[in-house]
Amino acid sequence: MSRGFFLTFEGLDGSGKSTQLRRLAAHLEAQGLRITVTRQPGGTRIGDRIRALLLDSRTERLDAMAELGLMFSDRAQCLGEVIRPALGAGRIVLCDRYTDSTEAYQGGGRQLGSEPVLRMHQVMCGGLDPDLTILLLADFDRSLARARRRNSRAAGNGKDEGRFEGENLPFHRRVFEKYQEIAAREPDRVVTIQGDRSIEQIHQQIVGLVKERLQDAAVSAGY
Ligand code: TMP
Repeated sequence: MSRGFFLTFEGLDGSGKSTQLRRLAAHLEAQGLRITVTRQPGGTRIGDRIRALLLDSRTERLDAMAELGLMFSDRAQCLGEVIRPALGAGRIVLCDRYTDSTEAYQGGGRQLGSEPVLRMHQVMCGGLDPDLTILLLADFDRSLARARRRNSRAAGNGKDEGRFEGENLPFHRRVFEKYQEIAAREPDRVVTIQGDRSIEQIHQQIVGLVKERLQDAAVSAGY
C-alpha cells in the first residue's frame, strides 16, 4: 500500500473531539495499525509557536486575514513535515482539526466566507482533502460551557489558549452553522456524530465507522 489514510476530527471547542481522537488512536494501535497523530494549529515545533500566537488571548487586533494566513502557514508546515511523509509511508494519519476548521472559524465565525478559505486550501495544501472527517456536533450550549471551564483551568496553570473560546455567542453560532453547511455539502467525506451520548458509546460508533472506511480503502492490516 503506497497511500495511507487521512482522517480528521472536527467540532466546536469542547465537543470532545480530542478525547475521541485519543481513544481511536489507542484502538487502532492495539490493532497493530501504523498511525500518526497530529493537530492544527500545532503538531510541529514551528506550528506550536504559531499556535501560541494564535490562541493567546493577549494577541489583540490580529486582522482576520492575518489569522487566516497563519492558520494555513501552520497547516502547510504540518503537511510538509508530518502529514505527507506519513501518508507516503502508508500510515493512517489522525489530525485534530484541518481546513474545515478554517472554513468554520475564519470563513463562518470571522465572516470571511468559504471562498477565500477554499482557494487558500488549493494553493497551500495542494487541495489535499481528508479521506474521512468525523464531525462531532455536541449540544451547542454544553460544548461552549465545557470549553470555557477547560480554558479557565488552563489559565490557572499559566497556559492561555482562550482567544477563540472568549469570542461571543454569535461567533460560535456561525461556526456551528458553517460546520453543518460543510457536512451537507460533502456528505461522503464528512460524517456527523451527535455528541449527546456517553464517551464510550460515541467511541464505539467511531470505531465501527472507521473500520468500515479503512476496509473500503483497503487499509486492512489488523482488521
Ligand atoms: P483546539 O483547542 O481544538 O486545538 O483548537 C484551537 C482553536 O483554534 C479552536 O478554538 C479553533 C481554532 N482554529 C481556527 O480558528 N481555525 C483553524 O483553522 C484551526 C485549525 C483552529
